[in-house]
Amino acid sequence: MAIGLDDVVAAETALSDVDGLAGRLIIRGRSLDELAGHEPSEAVLAMLFEGAFETPPTWRDVALARVDAFNRLSPLLPSVADLPLYDAMRALVANLPDLASLETALLLVAAPAVAVPALIRLRNGLQSVAPDAGASHAADILRMLSGTPATEAEVAALDTYLVTVSDHGLNASTFAARVVASTQAGLMSSVLAALGALKGPLHGGAPGPVLDMLDEVGAPEMAERVLASMLERGDRLMGFGHRVYRVRDPRADALKTALDWLNPSPRLTLALAVEAAALKLLKAKKPDRPLETNVEFFTALLLDALGFPRDAFTAVFAMGRTGGWIAHAREQAISGRLIRPKSLYVGPVPRQEA
Ligand code: ACO
Repeated sequence: MAIGLDDVVAAETALSDVDGLAGRLIIRGRSLDELAGHEPSEAVLAMLFEGAFETPPTWRDVALARVDAFNRLSPLLPSVADLPLYDAMRALVANLPDLASLETALLLVAAPAVAVPALIRLRNGLQSVAPDAGASHAADILRMLSGTPATEAEVAALDTYLVTVSDHGLNASTFAARVVASTQAGLMSSVLAALGALKGPLHGGAPGPVLDMLDEVGAPEMAERVLASMLERGDRLMGFGHRVYRVRDPRADALKTALDWLNPSPRLTLALAVEAAALKLLKAKKPDRPLETNVEFFTALLLDALGFPRDAFTAVFAMGRTGGWIAHAREQAISGRLIRPKSLYVGPVPRQEA
């Protein structure tokens, strides 16, 4: 029996494999270090969508989908303006068609990419910036966010991020997407289920709290003392530990490399001191349970350096992961198998059977 489904194989996939002991992530037969920093996110999306749809999308298809998504979602922005950013983005996604076509898939990939910059600008009292069908996905997201073209290093850093988080085995949100797809519901339903699962702090909701933790530490020399008191009061150190990895999360390294392309910040110096102190304290606290740095730790620093506010980090994660969710949803739907596990009943039985 595996409460929490640890080590249970619930699906076959040709999309990605997480080797938690070796600290290796394979996406479509290629290791993450071959892809992150080398391939644009559109190319990785095309790899993930192979076999899911008749033709894999080109970068231009993705660009046109941004324009389409922007035209559909812009008029709805005022109706979600009072919601927290993640919930507003999810509400906008819920307005898209619920079909299984490539057109729907690309709209779903494009929706967070256009919605998140527009929502951030809206609450800052700024007009949305329309997508540019001639720009790359990463360059356009940054331009729609700031209103001015990003530097090459910034575009490369965001592209690296989007590729790094594009797919990751049967994590909680991907599993949620596959469960919904197994009922033959449409792609929007799968993506909405995944968005719900991603939101929690044990999954995609951790990077915002990583920055809160750095703020609480304040200065590198305070790291060990402040983190020790957090552990003493029973807090988890955000950005550390993983259900599958027993060594360092390879995605953390990909993002750390991308951070080096951007201007050095005092926050990075603080973060490196916090990482070292956290690893030391966690090792002392749980000598038998390797708790290493996970993807969310450097995600927080990278997205902060790119100008995203911390309450948008989980929505930016969704931008990167939606293609993976859709590829899994299609793979599951095509397999035709309904996912329906059992539960162990531990409640009372009728009196005559007791
Ligand atoms: N800080 C302190 N203690 C920890 C941490 C942590 N970050 N992670 C695990 N532990 C401890 C637990 O308290 C537990 O101790 P106990 O046995 O005394 O209760 C033990 O290590 C095992 O923890 P589990 O919860 O069984 O480990 P699990 O595999 O379920 O947890 C998880 C994985 C949820 C990511 C966990 O490590 C955690 O909460 N980390 C902090 C939040 C975080 O970084 N989330 C992002 C994950 S990456 C992603 O989803 C994209």
